[in-house]
Amino acid sequence: MAGIVIIGAQWGDEGKGKITDLIAENADLVIRFQGGNNAGHTIVRDDVKWKFHLIPSGILYPGKLCAIGNGVVIDPKVLTDELDDLRAKGVDLSGLRISANAHLIMPYHMLLDHAGETKLGKLQIGTTRRGIGPAYADKAARLGIRVQDLLDEKILKKKIMAAMEPKRLALRPYAKSPELDLQSMTEDYLTYGHRIEQYIADTARITWKALDDGHDVIFEGAQGTLLDIDHGTYPFVTSSNPVAASAATGTGAGPKDLDEIWGVAKAYATRVGAGPFPTELTDATGQLLGERGHEFGTVTGRRRRCGWFDAVMVRQAVAVSGINGIALTKLDVLDPIDPILVCVGYEIRGKRYDYLPPGAALQAEAKPVYEELEGWRENTRGARSFADLPAKAIKYVRRIEELIETPAALLSTSPERDDTILVKDPFAD
Ligand code: GDP
Ligand code: IMO
Ligand code: MG
Repeated sequence: MAGIVIIGAQWGDEGKGKITDLIAENADLVIRFQGGNNAGHTIVRDDVKWKFHLIPSGILYPGKLCAIGNGVVIDPKVLTDELDDLRAKGVDLSGLRISANAHLIMPYHMLLDHAGETKLGKLQIGTTRRGIGPAYADKAARLGIRVQDLLDEKILKKKIMAAMEPKRLALRPYAKSPELDLQSMTEDYLTYGHRIEQYIADTARITWKALDDGHDVIFEGAQGTLLDIDHGTYPFVTSSNPVAASAATGTGAGPKDLDEIWGVAKAYATRVGAGPFPTELTDATGQLLGERGHEFGTVTGRRRRCGWFDAVMVRQAVAVSGINGIALTKLDVLDPIDPILVCVGYEIRGKRYDYLPPGAALQAEAKPVYEELEGWRENTRGARSFADLPAKAIKYVRRIEELIETPAALLSTSPERDDTILVKDPFAD
């Protein structure tokens, strides 16, 4: 039996969807544990592209048990749209389970996210404006509305009223907005409730049972370590904990059930939204990375900022989550690039650092110290074994392993599921 956690080791979009789908074939349960529809996880199978925002990336295996854990925030409109879309494409949804304890994103959360960003002006975080931050804020303030509340009109209405009351001032500009009408909001959410009722479950018990029965469970993360609300580049972060520990709190599993922790990282780096990004490239190489990697946000379509691999940050991600295997993706994107730089430290106010200091002001001023490696200038796209890789590409991977002090568990060489070099079987005893 094994519990394997798949998390992002950078700023999100590392390829978690592809890796989860790949290893889900041999898993008994796939459960999402944090984030919401700010996530966009892409799976490509036989040239067909699938994008998931809330549904776990194991759903394409018919009947596979796939759960949305208590730590996720759910926009029920997005969820039901996603379900309709999958059903229309003939996907078997019988294995889907949704935690009764997961919190809901409400129309006012989206308005508040929008208003908050507008108010920040130039200082804005660049959120996905999906209401994620305000929904987690209400959860912490104990004003959240949960999936189970969708099944009782009286409770739902009462809770919406209580949650909106302290927001009256902030919502005043939207007072006439039809989405904020209590009656129609309640009715809409009751309808969502009816539509997902068959999937609502006690996902913590399902997880315990799967683990107790000796089954293999994948905990699918969203976002990435540097977007973590505690360990990321605050305030330029998301409002949840995308680190491995969250796989326990966000599902009900015990920390000892997390046997394998895989951090997914691109062979370079990207970031969507504002905030420090020491290795960012604003030149032609950055542009080339963006073009070759198709670096546009899955959720908002925004251009992703691109830069060199930052070994210091990924090493930090390894420490925060206890990552014991790195899934290195998008190696193929680097094919024509020579030389390739890797960040091995920072210089800040004349001082050398081999870690990212916690001070936000210092982080903003971090200048990368680079090590230069030879590019391979050969095709690696579609490589499925080490024998298919040029020696210089292997050297690059080996150097990264050394710098982040973690072995590669997997290499990925195209969006396609099978264009992968699996170094380690995550479920091996
Ligand atoms: P996630 O949010 O971590 O699941 O990642 P996204 O799906 O948002 O972004 C990763 C993108 O890279 C997707 O378009 C994937 O299809 C694509 N991708 C994943 N692995 C590889 C790879 O090894 N090579 C290339 N070229 N693309 C990849
Ligand atoms: P996946 O799961 C990349 C970023 C946003 C913004 C910050 C806060 O696909 O890797 P939020 O809407 O969460 O309050 O925005 O976090 N962000 C992501 N960036 N991938 C994601 O998810 C992201 N989810 C949020 O761009 O900078
Ligand atoms: Mg994504």
